[in-house]
Amino acid sequence: MIHTQAYAALTSLSESLKPIHLKTLFENDSDRFTQCHLQMEGLLFDFSKQKVTQAVIDRLLELANEQQLKAWIEKLFNGNKINHTESRAAWHTALRDIENPRPEVAQQWHKMESLVNRVHQKQLRGYSGKPIVNIVNIGVGGSDLGPLMMTHALDKDKHPYAPDIHFVSTLDARQLHKVLDRLDPATTLFVVASKSFTTIDTLSLAETAKEWLQEYAPSHQAVMNHFIGISTDAQKMSDWGILPDYQLLFWDWVGGRFSLWSTIGFSIALKLGMQGYNEMLTGAHAMDQHFKNTPFEQNIPVLLGLIGVWNTNFLKLSAQAILPYDSRLKYFASYLEQLEMESNGKHTRRDGTPVTYRTCPILWGEVGPNAQHAFYQLLHQGTERVMSDFILFKKGISDSKRAIFHQNLNIANCLAQSRAMMIGEDNQNLHKHYPGDQVSNTLLLEQLDAHHLGMLVALYEHKVFVQSVIWEINAFDQWGVELGKKLALDILNHIENQSTDHLDSSTANILKHIWEQRNEN
Ligand code: F6P
Repeated sequence: MIHTQAYAALTSLSESLKPIHLKTLFENDSDRFTQCHLQMEGLLFDFSKQKVTQAVIDRLLELANEQQLKAWIEKLFNGNKINHTESRAAWHTALRDIENPRPEVAQQWHKMESLVNRVHQKQLRGYSGKPIVNIVNIGVGGSDLGPLMMTHALDKDKHPYAPDIHFVSTLDARQLHKVLDRLDPATTLFVVASKSFTTIDTLSLAETAKEWLQEYAPSHQAVMNHFIGISTDAQKMSDWGILPDYQLLFWDWVGGRFSLWSTIGFSIALKLGMQGYNEMLTGAHAMDQHFKNTPFEQNIPVLLGLIGVWNTNFLKLSAQAILPYDSRLKYFASYLEQLEMESNGKHTRRDGTPVTYRTCPILWGEVGPNAQHAFYQLLHQGTERVMSDFILFKKGISDSKRAIFHQNLNIANCLAQSRAMMIGEDNQNLHKHYPGDQVSNTLLLEQLDAHHLGMLVALYEHKVFVQSVIWEINAFDQWGVELGKKLALDILNHIENQSTDHLDSSTANILKHIWEQRNEN
């Protein structure tokens, strides 16, 4: 990236723009919004509160061209093996083309649909003959966060016969036990969701769930009728005991954090029904088409990604806040934390050389109105420069007078915060002085439903891809998580053998303190 002509031009533009306050950009052009927003059906992207000028946008578009973004987008959509360190495609876009599905995808959709219908029609029955009414999704990372985020956000649109769905991910098993305490084993179905079907977090929880059922169900076969497996590895599911009819497959060309569009979305389909599930896919597909076919200067994911690069590499901002103004998006920031940081938190270029510039910023977030009463203080008066994405929906929860009042409050707060961050306020008393000049995007969507949420998630996926191309990194592997897994196994071994040999003094002494306390009990 740094050898491109655009990089040099952007560096010098950033030097001249840094001292200019955002509010000056608005004062100099009363119609700044017109130049600085993009639209597609159902979505408006306002980037006028970013520290950009037309010259900056032009150079960023040049940078995209110099980095061959168009060719990379084609490779993504063609299913080329762009995840070169694992020799895999990253073909999540192929999962949302419901008019034109690949045969293996269509086959798994049908299998999933039939299981969903059997649950909804109370035909899927447990060992006692009672119908299944509770689902426990056991999975972690991409096998948890997407379905958790979607089912929580779209609860209002649930299918009339949707079962209760619970999510369990943490390997300490507290979440699991809390859920099991409330459930009837006879009516509970476990969904063991794991792309690799090797993740110890998921398999250990699934084993505990199996033991729980064994206390009640009359036979092994009866127990296994309460487990559905979702994975890319049929053999591993069979080895664990998942019955062939209860295995849902997906493929190594779907990354874990991009897998909610695959059968990993089973719990979403259970919640929304197949029609709602398909609307989510259609929304994502609409974003795919926009990304693939729209000229870069009007392309929302391209601009969202490039502006992020501008902030990170040229304005040197190192944090990104995600601020949805809708409580239904409670898990959206957690979802994006994995999507963005596991994809682009990299220090090695595709060619194996170290990067010499910043890549993914630290990303976090919270539902906006709550965050206002928590960490916005830092956004307004802290020493960190942060870029924020405000996410807002036009419609509130209903058309009642009271609901409209609440939505007006919500809208007013969202716009007040982005305006306050932009404009600031002078005060002689420094405690009450607001510097402003904090940049933000606003994404305004029609309403929060399966279609628009599908669009929004696909927008961020493509933003991540755009940035990975500019940074010359592979967005689709995650080698950085492996060392911790390896060391955890090693330490577990030490714990089981009560040995601290070859451990560092911190690890060894923490273990000794734990053992002392156990011996005292
Ligand atoms: O350890 C990280 C990771 O591999 C994520 O990429 C993935 O989403 C998660 O673990 C769960 O993996 P799996 O679905 O294979 O259990």
